[in-house]
Order: sequence, then C-alpha cells, then structure tokens
Amino acid sequence: MSTRKELEQYARYRALIDERLAHVIDRDEPVTMYQPARYVLESGGKRIRPVLVMLACEAVGGNPIDAVDAGVAVEILHNFTLVHDDIMDGADTRRGRETVHKKWDENIAILVGDELMGIAYKVLLNTQVGDLRELISVFTDGVIEVCEGQSYDKEFEAAPQVSEAQYLMMIGKKTGWLVAISAHLGAIIGGATPAQTQALLAYARHIGRAFQVQDDLLDAVAEEEEFGKPVGADILEGKKTYLLVTAMDRAEGDDLALLRRVATRQESREDLVPRVRALYRRMGILELARQRIEEDTAAAIRALDALPATEGRGMLVWLAHMLLDRKH
Ligand code: IPE
Ligand code: IPE
Ligand code: MG
Ligand code: MG
Ligand code: MG
Repeated sequence: MSTRKELEQYARYRALIDERLAHVIDRDEPVTMYQPARYVLESGGKRIRPVLVMLACEAVGGNPIDAVDAGVAVEILHNFTLVHDDIMDGADTRRGRETVHKKWDENIAILVGDELMGIAYKVLLNTQVGDLRELISVFTDGVIEVCEGQSYDKEFEAAPQVSEAQYLMMIGKKTGWLVAISAHLGAIIGGATPAQTQALLAYARHIGRAFQVQDDLLDAVAEEEEFGKPVGADILEGKKTYLLVTAMDRAEGDDLALLRRVATRQESREDLVPRVRALYRRMGILELARQRIEEDTAAAIRALDALPATEGRGMLVWLAHMLLDRKH
C-alpha cells in the first residue's frame, strides 16, 4: 500500500472518530461546563489512540467499526488527562489554542476534566462486541496508571536528578499506558488470541515510549506554530525529560552545573532555552534521543511479525513510521 492510501485510511478513521466525538455531549447547561468541554473535544488533535484502537481490532480480524466507541472513550480519557496536565504544567497553549484553565479558570478546568472521565466511561459502555467487563477493567487500569505516571512526573520535577530507568518507568505509565490500552481494547473487540494480544501490547509499549521521547525532543526543537504547545516549557519547568536525564548522566564541569540548575529550576536567565538546546546539541543528546526513538520504532514493528500479514498490520507499521516524522 502506498503512503497516500494509508494516509487516506488514517483520515477516514479519524473522521469517524471526530464525527462521534462531535455528538458525545448532548446538552448545553451548565454553560460553564459544556462550553469548555466542547472546546476541548473539538480542538483537533491527532487522534492517534482511537485510530490505534480501530487498527488493532482490524489487525486481528475484527471489524474496526465495532471499535469506534472504545476508541472515542480512550480519546476522551486522553483529553481529560491533557486538561489536567496543562494545569499541572502551567501550560498556556495546546493544539494552537489557549488551554482551558487559561481561557476560563482552574476550577472550570478541574471540573471539565472530571466530567470528561465520566463521559468516557459512558461511551465505552456502548461497545457491543467483546467482553464488556474485560474492556472496563483494561480501561480502568489505564486511568489508574496514567494518574500514577503523572504523580511521578510531578515528583521528579522536584527531584534534583532522575535515572534513565526511573524516567522510562514514569513515561511507561503517563504516556505508554494509554497507548497500550488502545491496542488492548482493540485486541479484545477484534477477538485476538492471547499471542496476538501480547504482540499488539509489545508494539504499543514500544511506540508509546518512542512517542514520549519524541514529545520531549519536540519540546526542545519544534517550531512553536507547528507544535501547538509552548516550546522549551519542559526546560523552564525542570522536567526530567529524556534529554535532561541522559545529558545529566553524561555531562561534566560547567555543563553539569548548568544542567543541575535547570533540574532544580535555579536558572532564570532569559536565554535559558536556547542555551540548554545548544548544550544538548553539542553533547549529541538530540541525536541520542532520535536513536532511541528509532530503536523503539523498529522493536515495535518487529513485534508485529506475530500477526497475520494483513492490511491492518500494514497500517500499524505505517503508523509507527508516521509517528517518527511528526512535527507536533
Ligand atoms: C500529548 O499527546 C500528550 C503526550 C502524551 C505527549 P498527543 O501528542 O497525542 O496530543 P494530541 O491529542 O495529538 O493533541
Ligand atoms: C504527557 O506529558 C502525559 C500526559 C498528558 C498524561 P506532557 O506534559 O509532556 O504532555 P504535553 O507535552 O503537555 O502534551
Ligand atoms: Mg505533563
Ligand atoms: Mg504538559
Ligand atoms: Mg511534553
């Protein structure tokens, strides 16, 4: 299949998701709840997770349409985490627009997040194919793990240094888990064998990890307009990103001293972001991050060997490559 055909298929699945998302809120009042809730769900986003739910289902012989509700549920859950994440990270923009707590206020953003989680469960319950108890169980694990991951993320923000192993554990929860449950829900709905489920989970864990390392990399090097989020925010917040963690492991002397001040947020000079970016570049950290992303992508694709060679599997390979090249 050519890239164009695959892009078109992605766009078709994404349109199905967007269409369903546009109708999940069926009331207007209270206005302070539903206006921002609609604002969030209609603000675009790549819709990677719901498309993955559909593709995983298809790759094991299921009908991707049966997986739309579960996909929409994961996307709503993801959007809830973003609304609260932006409060926690003090971020003013997302998807090129003002964040909810900035456009409205924090109380509204907290409530909208809570409400979105409820709506996510409601939508998941519409799923007609697959064991509903198992679907809810997997989904609920996702909620718990993502919250744990976000807790570690904030704990690590306050820590002077974090090991690569701790970092990988944290991103496996805050980001990898929602990607993994996307594949898992699709596998359940598609009637996967245990071996197929394991293959899809291995694939998802690897792309989930690559996805967050890529997000960390983009935070340092992206074009703000394309990225849709503030560039350099992780550096200013002392976030223990892949870049900072690996750079601190390798730096010495003045370089290490600067990174320590970044890690403890004791450096507030205006040009901090370009200086840290230049240091990462000089130390080969950006290249290291790219290698790590490529390795995880290759491992993800290898895991798919255990699945039958179908169009659905081809789409999963394509999706992994597509994520490598993303600019936002
Ligand atoms: C952003 O996720 C949060 C991370 C896990 C890095 P996405 O990059 O999938 O965000 P949208 O949904 O496309 O905006
Ligand atoms: C993503 O972490 C994890 C979740 C939102 C759960 P980030 O804080 O890096 O995500 P962005 O960069 O704000 O999208
Ligand atoms: Mg965050
Ligand atoms: Mg954030
Ligand atoms: Mg980020």
